[in-house]
Amino acid sequence: MNDIPKIETKPPDGKEIIIEISNLKKTLGDNEVLKDVNISIYRGESLIILGKSGSGKSVTLKCIVGLMTPDSGKVNVLNINVPELDIDELQELRMKIGFIFQSGALYDSMSVRENLEFPLVRHEKLTDDEVENRIKEALTNVGLVESIDKMPSELSGGMRKRIGLARTLILKPEIMLYDEPTTGLDPATSKEISNLIIEMQKKFKVTSVIVTHDMKCAKMTADRIVVLKDGVFAAEGTYDELQKSDDEFVRGFFE
Ligand SMILES: Nc1ncnc2c1ncn2[C@@H]1O[C@H](COP(=O)(O)OP(=O)(O)O)[C@@H](O)[C@H]1O
Ligand SMILES: [Mg+2]
Repeated sequence: MNDIPKIETKPPDGKEIIIEISNLKKTLGDNEVLKDVNISIYRGESLIILGKSGSGKSVTLKCIVGLMTPDSGKVNVLNINVPELDIDELQELRMKIGFIFQSGALYDSMSVRENLEFPLVRHEKLTDDEVENRIKEALTNVGLVESIDKMPSELSGGMRKRIGLARTLILKPEIMLYDEPTTGLDPATSKEISNLIIEMQKKFKVTSVIVTHDMKCAKMTADRIVVLKDGVFAAEGTYDELQKSDDEFVRGFFE
């Protein structure tokens, strides 16, 4: 990837920028979804993105991982400008980024073991023993090693989410993108998933970007929160700071 231009960045007080988005614009149809999105995300932090339904949170995540191409602007991930990558370079970058989609779907016709094997054998050359060990390690991390031979249909919603997380973490990503990881789960399971996100961040020092409406999840996991409004990040701060914001729109998320 030598030909890819790099942006020089000067992060504050020793923080390393791992994702830098500047002047990101994305229009879909005649909807100007992202008008001017700017953010620096630091290595190891947990950043929450809040925003009303349809405000462009998922579009932002998709631009980070190269599933959508911005109309203009820079999306620098690990010092690489994502929109300029060809398909092979994108594949290489995506191995370092775990993306938990809103649906978080597992392959229903495959066992838990096969679901986890799939990304591993696709991306890495490992012996059978190494594959088996990595699968067990990943399942142990989410507390579900005993479910290795189950089918997804035999698992609860919360368990399927955790298997989805294990399937993503098995590639040991540097960055995790979570799109509404607790949506549709009961409060107890939501809390479990939020705890797992924190654990994984501590254990593997991953950078987490979490889109959520679940303010309990936000409170538990956030180092920092940004609010997407009318196509820009309109507010930024800690949970406590934004909860006391002068802006009624921002405060609204916390009420
Ligand atoms: N592939 C697409 N084609 C056309 N419009 C889209 C597409 N994806 C998203 N949109 C529109 O862009 C807006 C933002 O979508 P999205 O990022 O999914 O919102 P959210 O903040 O709820 O995640 C919505 O109005 C949605 O309908
Ligand atoms: Mg969304």
